[in-house]
Amino acid sequence: MSDAVLRSSQGRIGILTINNPPVNALAAAVRDGIKAGIEAMGADPAIEAIVLIGGGRTFIAGADIREFGKPPSGANLNDVIATIENCPKIVVAALHGTPLGGGLETALGAHYRVSLKSTRVGLPEVHLGLLPGAGGTQRLPRLAGAKYALDAMISGRHIPAPEAQSKGIIDALVDGASQEELLKGAIAHAEMLVAQKAPRVRVQDRKVTLESPDLFETTKKDIARRARGFKAPWSIIECVRAAAEAKSFDEGIKRERELFVELLTSSESAAQRHYFFAEREAAKVKDVPAETKQGEIKSAGIIGAGTMGGGIAMNFANAGIPVTILEAEQAALDRGLKTIRTNYENTAKRGGMKAEDVEKRMALITPTLSYDGLKDCDVVIEAVFETMEVKEAVFKKLDAVAKPGAILATNTSGLDVNQIASYTKRPQDVIGMHFFSPANVMKLLENVRGKATSKETIATVMSLSKRIGKIPVLVGVCEGFVGNRMLRMRGIQAAYMLEEGALPQQIDKVVFDYGFPMGPFAMSDLAGNDVGWRIRQGKKEKEKRNVRYTGYIADAICELGRFGQKTGAGYYKYNLPDRTPVPDPEVEKIIEETSKKLGITRRAFTDQEILERCFYPMVNEGAKILEEGMAQRALDIDVIWVNGYGWPVYRGGPMWWADNVVGLKTIHDALLKYRDLTGDPFWEPAALLKRLVAEGKKFASV
Ligand code: CAA
Repeated sequence: MSDAVLRSSQGRIGILTINNPPVNALAAAVRDGIKAGIEAMGADPAIEAIVLIGGGRTFIAGADIREFGKPPSGANLNDVIATIENCPKIVVAALHGTPLGGGLETALGAHYRVSLKSTRVGLPEVHLGLLPGAGGTQRLPRLAGAKYALDAMISGRHIPAPEAQSKGIIDALVDGASQEELLKGAIAHAEMLVAQKAPRVRVQDRKVTLESPDLFETTKKDIARRARGFKAPWSIIECVRAAAEAKSFDEGIKRERELFVELLTSSESAAQRHYFFAEREAAKVKDVPAETKQGEIKSAGIIGAGTMGGGIAMNFANAGIPVTILEAEQAALDRGLKTIRTNYENTAKRGGMKAEDVEKRMALITPTLSYDGLKDCDVVIEAVFETMEVKEAVFKKLDAVAKPGAILATNTSGLDVNQIASYTKRPQDVIGMHFFSPANVMKLLENVRGKATSKETIATVMSLSKRIGKIPVLVGVCEGFVGNRMLRMRGIQAAYMLEEGALPQQIDKVVFDYGFPMGPFAMSDLAGNDVGWRIRQGKKEKEKRNVRYTGYIADAICELGRFGQKTGAGYYKYNLPDRTPVPDPEVEKIIEETSKKLGITRRAFTDQEILERCFYPMVNEGAKILEEGMAQRALDIDVIWVNGYGWPVYRGGPMWWADNVVGLKTIHDALLKYRDLTGDPFWEPAALLKRLVAEGKKFASV
């Protein structure tokens, strides 16, 4: 008998305690242990009812995701659940922590479910590109109705226990907050059921409530936009349809199994499972062990109350950390605080937070006009204008007032963090924290390690990032860091393709169809074409030296005042109320004239060429980033692209996609093909890419 499931008893109640830290995932030993335990206790005349409970911090948090894609071993989960459901003794599942996925499905096989109030249940398989494949799609609609079950499984959200109780998913809440109190309450509940001679309630025997005959069609319409490109949400709808319409429970289970296997073997699910672990791995820093000493962050300071500074401040207030915002002038400070308040009020109006919480968060924000106001802050983040002169002035002043040991962070999106650190006498405390706009919404945080940044500073900032709700990735100092450095490669090729014969709408469509929320030209129109224009005006000559100038068409567009959405026109016209980009013959004319001026004969482009020229140079740049050690691992780059730039998670990120979908040799050979066609050294494959192809290896091996 393995110790993955421990057996004990109290009086006539048998207790099965799952013992597979940290989250009691349903590994083969756990499945075998539950099945054997239920069978043994079911046959034991001394036992009248069984309590199934998790040891440690949670009930089962789901299938063991690491087992997916490996040869099956141990008892099948559906058989384990059938054993529970058909056990001759009453089985009570006692829930704490996060009973998720296969964990909740196991509990739905029990005859009764009791829980702590703090428990959150859910079927989040959709986030792994899967559906609940152990009866969840058939049992949840039988308890909570088809409509609620669809929403729960398509969103994958964690449901608070009181809500789950109101939907019949949980039978009773137990007083207390600890696992020990839960066990006590669950035993008492089981004893009561035995005393009452309560029936063994099998969820499979209940009928599904179908709220409206067109539920499935309306759900499909509702999710069309957000589920674009994903497979799992559509399969979940088919499973719930089977639950409602199939002749028997077993027939529904059969349909669920077919669709589950289809998803499990899809590249979309493989990509999403990769992403699940990638996000967790990226938060770890190879030479900064988990036990590294960390500074305590009880207060924060932000320099600059503009869009970025205000957004960053909101993250701290949201996490309950007092934050002081510094501005040079009262008017700018007032404007910044007003914007923050409006943002919170709008969230409250949409139901995203309680009205009284608006005041609570505003109360955590202190405005100041003096650097002295920052002297007690544990971390200060600078979000001022992006020139080295301004940063120099700010960091010198900050160095003079900040308390010893305070972390001094810059939100620069491209300046040299080492140089910024050199303006202080404490470069070990200086680090980059590159937030993405809007900073209160975007999850990604590129933390930039300077050459002198201490391990303690890194450890503190990585864990602070999580505390303020961000997904942190550590990167090195290089132009554009990881994300923008790769984005630039796509931008260069998109600009050249316009000159050579493609149109903005054609390039944008390829990128959109791949799964991005929008293509490069629609994105530029949204961000404002004038931003890049002004930068180019400053460094035209320099950029010309690096690569062939990319701004001819962009400049012509800006010279007409077409700055994008904010001026009603850019690469597209925006005359519809919903700001749909409309292709514009005027732009086509500018593009054609530019090609003529450059002496380029325009030609037709296939979607495949556009895709290769947009994405392969990014992968190649990713390879250079890896070989220079600017990212710790290929998966870190994937996490950056999924969270900062809308790379579709069901394609895993650029490096996973290159490794597993396209193949490194294909990319390498295509780069050579374009190099030979154009004679442009831009296309030279990175040394790392060449080596991996020669060795038949993947980025994941680096
Ligand atoms: N399988 C394998 N490992 C898992 C896991 C799982 N289901 N859930 C978590 N882990 C691992 C994590 O990778 C992490 O490992 P490391 O410490 O080595 O990085 C460790 O457990 C702790 O996880 P977190 O850092 O995420 O801890 P947390 O406290 O922040 O969150 C959690 C806990 C809410 C359970 C979160 O881990 C989570 O959401 N897990 C996934 C839940 C899930 O998707 N379950 C469904 C699985 S699919 C399924 O069940 C299919 C089916 O129908 C049969």
